[in-house]
Amino acid sequence: PEPGWTASADAVVVGSGIAGLSTALRYTEVSPRGRVVLVTKDLLSTGSTRWAQGGIAAVTDPSDAPLSHMVDTVVAGRELCDPQAVRTLVTVGPEALRWLVEHGTAFDRTDDGRLALTREGGHRARRIAHAGGDATGAEIERALIHAVTADPRIEVIEHAFAPDLLTARPAGPGAEPSAAGVTVHVIGEGERGGVGRVRARAVVLATGGIGQVFASTTNPEVSTGDGLALGLRAGAAAEDLEFVQFHPTVLWLGAQARGQQPLISEAVRGEGAFLLDTDGERFMADLHESADLAPRDVVARGAAEAMARTGADHVLLDARHFGARMWEERFPTILAACRKHGVDPVTDLIPVAPAAHYASGGLRTDLRGRTGVSGLYAVGEVARTGVHGANRLASNSLLESVVFAHRAAGDVAERTAAAAADPLPAAAEPEGRGGLVAPENASRIRAVMSRYAGVVRDEEGLRAALGELAAVAADPANDTAEPGTASWEATNLFTVAATLLGAALLRVRADDRAAEHGPAAPVPARINVRVGIDGPRGQAPV
Ligand code: SIN
Repeated sequence: PEPGWTASADAVVVGSGIAGLSTALRYTEVSPRGRVVLVTKDLLSTGSTRWAQGGIAAVTDPSDAPLSHMVDTVVAGRELCDPQAVRTLVTVGPEALRWLVEHGTAFDRTDDGRLALTREGGHRARRIAHAGGDATGAEIERALIHAVTADPRIEVIEHAFAPDLLTARPAGPGAEPSAAGVTVHVIGEGERGGVGRVRARAVVLATGGIGQVFASTTNPEVSTGDGLALGLRAGAAAEDLEFVQFHPTVLWLGAQARGQQPLISEAVRGEGAFLLDTDGERFMADLHESADLAPRDVVARGAAEAMARTGADHVLLDARHFGARMWEERFPTILAACRKHGVDPVTDLIPVAPAAHYASGGLRTDLRGRTGVSGLYAVGEVARTGVHGANRLASNSLLESVVFAHRAAGDVAERTAAAAADPLPAAAEPEGRGGLVAPENASRIRAVMSRYAGVVRDEEGLRAALGELAAVAADPANDTAEPGTASWEATNLFTVAATLLGAALLRVRADDRAAEHGPAAPVPARINVRVGIDGPRGQAPV
């Protein structure tokens, strides 16, 4: 449909978690007259950030060192991290934490006023700041929303789905199109209601993760990979997409539980809780020198193996020795969630199982948040900056979002300042968009991904999954799918699932080759996926 309204700004930010809010705020700080439109598909507060429990990692204690944080990050990432990106993360990290404090985040403190620090898997030091005990993300989100809504140079549009990138046609021969805004569909009436477009000199994707592509996840309903799919449609490259992180301790609510599940923070193990299989045996001590505080992928695999051994569909977390007072003071959110579901962690073992938690890969960016498409940036979980490698270190995600939001904002400021005297470029809608996936196929896609692309994968299963996605693509129900949030989300889930499966297939083949021929066999350190799937009619990823 024709747009009913057009807004314009120097930059448009898509998404309102820590990455989007930090980018918008930082941009107006470094660009004296710059204006931002921030669009978000639900309410400002609805993204993943407010669910983050454990905290934000950064070196603040004199006995710790950025180099130690760097080593822990690279070890957890299986040495597939980009060292330059990790160096940036750990050295700028403390400054990013200070910036959050300056913007009103109230972190928990010790009696003498220092930051209270905890530990999580893969960290060899206590370096994780937290707020409200186990409600770190909610406190950060509160503070940043307060700052954004008070900033007169940031216009916020809620309930605004951004399906596509607007591009400016290149001026000269051979020049590539550049980002010139986004199309927006707003649920609601009024000046910014219905179909519109936001024109801008830079577009920053900060849309978060992809957890909803799996049947069971810690991510909220909105995490359907919209920015990743938009970026792929616009021609940006994705990398490390196969590296989905499964959190090992997600409250197990029964085999039929679907969608967002309650997280039991790794900080609970950081404070001394431990895992048992359903026969009552501790299983992590034999698997890793750090036992229950091994990196997250090791613990998730350990839990999956224990479940296969016992035949149970969960394992157990024991934190009964904390006692009621510690539970109430240190982990009030988790305590309430457990009790709501009939588990009292003060007296009961907590049933837990791995669930999809975090996309370690995403749209490939440089250290200033730039994707391969001129003027298109990605920040936060949607981005693949190189800091996470094969497995993100606990509590590095909030940190990455702020550090790279600041860097992207700086780059956007330079870009918009350089073009300030020019009129906004003419912005064109995408041509020949592919078909839509019917909303009822979303649960089918999720079931396929959870069955074949979970913690343990093999080539046969991944091939079967691609076959099932081909059947989804051929479903006649797609032909009558109406444009709208539900079908755009289903289409984005399809795009993400197909791309992820392609990357996972390449990765298991490379791993199998290495297992067969030994470490000298060529194992690609990077599997760079660049596909042009517009929807189910698009080409297959492999
Ligand atoms: C947790 O609190 O266990 C999750 C923290 C994270 O994802 O880094």
